Amino acid sequence: MAKPKTIYVCQQCGATASKWMGKCAECGNWNTFIEETIQKDPISKGSAFTTSKPVLVNDIEYDDEKRFVTGNVELDKVLGGGFVEGSISLLGGEPGIGKSTLSLQIALTQQDKKVLYVSGEESTGQIKMRSQRLNADQNNCYLLCEISLENIIQTIDEINPELIIIDSIQTTVSGNIESSAGTISQVRESAARLQQLAKRTGIPVILIGHITKDGNIAGPKVLEHIVDTVLQFEGDHQHLFRILRPVKNRFGSTSEIGLFEMTDKGLIPVEDPSGILLGHRDNNLSGICVASTINGVRPFLIEIQALVSTAAYGLPQRSAIGFDTRRLNMLLAVLEKRAGFKLATKDVFLNIAGGLKLNDPALDLAVTASILSSSSDIPVNKNYCLASEISLSGEMRPVTHIEQRIKEAERLGFKKIFISAYNKKNILSKFKDIELSYINTINDMVKKLFG
Ligand code: TYD
Ligand code: MG
Repeated sequence: MAKPKTIYVCQQCGATASKWMGKCAECGNWNTFIEETIQKDPISKGSAFTTSKPVLVNDIEYDDEKRFVTGNVELDKVLGGGFVEGSISLLGGEPGIGKSTLSLQIALTQQDKKVLYVSGEESTGQIKMRSQRLNADQNNCYLLCEISLENIIQTIDEINPELIIIDSIQTTVSGNIESSAGTISQVRESAARLQQLAKRTGIPVILIGHITKDGNIAGPKVLEHIVDTVLQFEGDHQHLFRILRPVKNRFGSTSEIGLFEMTDKGLIPVEDPSGILLGHRDNNLSGICVASTINGVRPFLIEIQALVSTAAYGLPQRSAIGFDTRRLNMLLAVLEKRAGFKLATKDVFLNIAGGLKLNDPALDLAVTASILSSSSDIPVNKNYCLASEISLSGEMRPVTHIEQRIKEAERLGFKKIFISAYNKKNILSKFKDIELSYINTINDMVKKLFG
């Protein structure tokens, strides 16, 4: 019998080679080649669609209302109104972030729609235990603990559910492929077969996917191409907040984000993030400042905390949690060069409250103000809010969605907001409960906030 032919496949980008290589020539990643058997007839090369004749666009009947509305406010919003019929979505995130919890919650809260939850990671007993924590008694959810793709598809055809959840795509194995579970060929084959099934039956499918330590979905770019929607679940394990971010959405925008809070009863949608994030703010403490930020299209207020102290040993430390350290270093250089603050021998620590990771340039002003406040030990008035980008020249740059940022600050009772003078022309509405203070440069800010 002829020896089965094998090739080496890069597990990051899917590039193939006849010999093992340390570095992938296509994507540049190291140590990603794994030996896999060549398949004569991989299903994944077939078409997912039943018609292969051209049709007039005008003749196609299509009903946008055919979405599976999950009832979870935040998730539906991120999806643009629920899962589209016959679509395939990928829910990615680091281990322990709450992917299984969220998807099980969706499955358990459907009272009249039949849902199939397939788990290749946990036993029925473990899932039952989790479902008791989630307190969902009335549901129509079937559990299947299975990793064989063929058995999964057979069960789907038998029970004909209205939503399918596969937890996870990396544990699913097809008998057609000889490689082990989680390899790129297996992941691609499983995803392609499930896509065919979704298109054939019209049932929306959710695939859960793990994320590798460098932040990519394991196996993956290939997977992102196959699926219709990619949702990324982010957050910090020590904190309770989770952000659900659409990375790709064929049926809606990618600018909405979903916010959840992890509680002992599962993930709860957060509708007023500012209210929770700001919490109790009674005392005027130095080093604390509030920024009006936009995440996706949603404005919320966030507390920025800084601590500046004299460096005890050798090189001063610069550390930031939830904020880009390079940007922090840049702002420190701007403070030194443009405003004359000598921070070169100081340790600077920065923290964004709530464990959120933000990269909104409008945080610049609040970050610099909190650093100056801590350094000089002068508190920033707790009724002040800030939103402006800072350029290398120390000038205040305008930011997007300025009216929404002001409105959010006004809604939460802030009395004054500091913004770039260049944003003046973007403000058409009148704000009666909040005063707008326009500033031009970093020196301007120092004068207005610290006198
Ligand atoms: P899980 O959904 O298993 O993560 P993933 O599938 O992304 O790997 O989430 C597990 C974490 O969530 C775990 O650390 C415990 C926590 N958790 C709660 O805090 N409350 C709950 O009700 C549940 C079910 C989990
Ligand atoms: Mg899980």
